[in-house]
Amino acid sequence: MKGIILAGGKATRLYPVTKGVCKQLLPVYDKPLIYYPLSVLMLAGIRDILIISTPKDISNFQYLFDHGRQLGLHISYRIQPEPKGIAQALLIGEEFIGTDQVALILGDNIFYGDKLGEVLRQAMTYKDGATIFGYKVTDPQRYGVISFNKRGQPVAIIEKPSNPPSDWAVTGLYFYDCRAVHIAKKLKPSTRGELEITDLNQYYLKEKKLKVKLLSRGFAWLDTGTHDSLMDASLFIKIIEERQGLKIGCIEEIAFRMGFITRQNLLKLSSSVNTTYGFYLKRIAGYEK
Ligand code: TTP
Repeated sequence: MKGIILAGGKATRLYPVTKGVCKQLLPVYDKPLIYYPLSVLMLAGIRDILIISTPKDISNFQYLFDHGRQLGLHISYRIQPEPKGIAQALLIGEEFIGTDQVALILGDNIFYGDKLGEVLRQAMTYKDGATIFGYKVTDPQRYGVISFNKRGQPVAIIEKPSNPPSDWAVTGLYFYDCRAVHIAKKLKPSTRGELEITDLNQYYLKEKKLKVKLLSRGFAWLDTGTHDSLMDASLFIKIIEERQGLKIGCIEEIAFRMGFITRQNLLKLSSSVNTTYGFYLKRIAGYEK
């Protein structure tokens, strides 16, 4: 399975913060925002990853991650010239995806919760169809919203409805079978000129090939699109990390725990970061209390 992180967009709701720096490189407490979606793909066991960003920002991601070998990954990069929709990521990634299944995650989404890795790895076992994740929110009109029938089965996904049929928003993490690119090619831009991921998901739904996994209240799905939500996300991460003494979205730790890199590799990574983050990596490597 391949993984794509879509990390472009304009982030206009974060102006002026994002006029000079892209959203996915902003700090969420102690690490860049993109570490969180990257850690989700890594927890799923995905090591072949494509980062898509704007012509202006792509080089910063390359600077940050390089080829990814230090994390036991293979990371490649492509440009999205204009933000023409989330589903466009599949077209940009066509060559990268090849005939594989693909997981697509938005570069500004944070997921946290017990057994997240298990949930992800289970989604990866479905070879036929797509899997999306629903999360109960208080402001569903801002998202793609899932409509259910009386038996609780999903029947439609409606993009930013003024009258939401439920409180279940579609999160920014999607698993697709090998037909995704083919289907994405058939999509037409919406009235706002974007290739909508909701249209792609609707296609799978109509074919009865869409699994909707509802994330329970034990999970956190955090949005970082506004000043307030970005600050809230930072506080959330800070509070849990300080309380437990364990980090969330620490890609070096995950690389080590997933067996992508050795203890010696982790120690080497730790020595290049002379902050509490680096000391933490040393502790995880077993070289410091
Ligand atoms: P949005 O939050 O919808 O857009 P944005 O980040 O540009 O923010 P704003 O509404 O404030 O202008 O995008 C969600 C994520 O998807 C975000 O990480 C950016 C990314 N994205 C792209 O990279 N390309 C696209 O064409 C779109 C629509 C989104």
